[in-house]
Amino acid sequence: MSTTIYTMALYNSNSFLRKNSMKRILFALIAGVSIAAPALADLALAQKKNCMACHAIEKKVVGPAYKEVAKKYAGVDASAKLATKVMKGGSGVWGAVPMPANPQVTQAEAETLVKWVLSNK
Ligand code: HEC
Repeated sequence: MSTTIYTMALYNSNSFLRKNSMKRILFALIAGVSIAAPALADLALAQKKNCMACHAIEKKVVGPAYKEVAKKYAGVDASAKLATKVMKGGSGVWGAVPMPANPQVTQAEAETLVKWVLSNK
């Protein structure tokens, strides 16, 4: 009887340790991922908001390549103007084809997206 209790206690403390180190490993994994995640999260947002239907990072599709956009505005504070354009649409900067309004995008999302677009240098 006492052996059983002892064994159980040992077993429990063992699985406690195991759980704890699993937690630590998970935590380390999550911490690592969240450092690498912002760029990916913003790409996911751009996909979700349909931006990638007309844009790609590396090449022109209907709209300009995000890399080209980032190059064009390097060193210029264009974020506010671009965020408004993402929401309201516009034309004439990259050619005759207009970007339609994107009413599915909030101000905060537009700012996040523009920040990400401009980071694709
Ligand atoms: C239907 C196609 C289409 C969709 C969808 C679209 N765009 Fe565009 N985008 C364009 C075109 C075309 C231009 C070029 C407009 C111009 O020449 O002024 C452009 C231009 C831009 C620019 C540069 C604007 C400038 O004045 O230099 C940014 C930034 C941009 N788009 C971001 C986005 C984001 C973010 C989304 C998603 C919310 C998005 N676009 C969705 C077609 C699109």
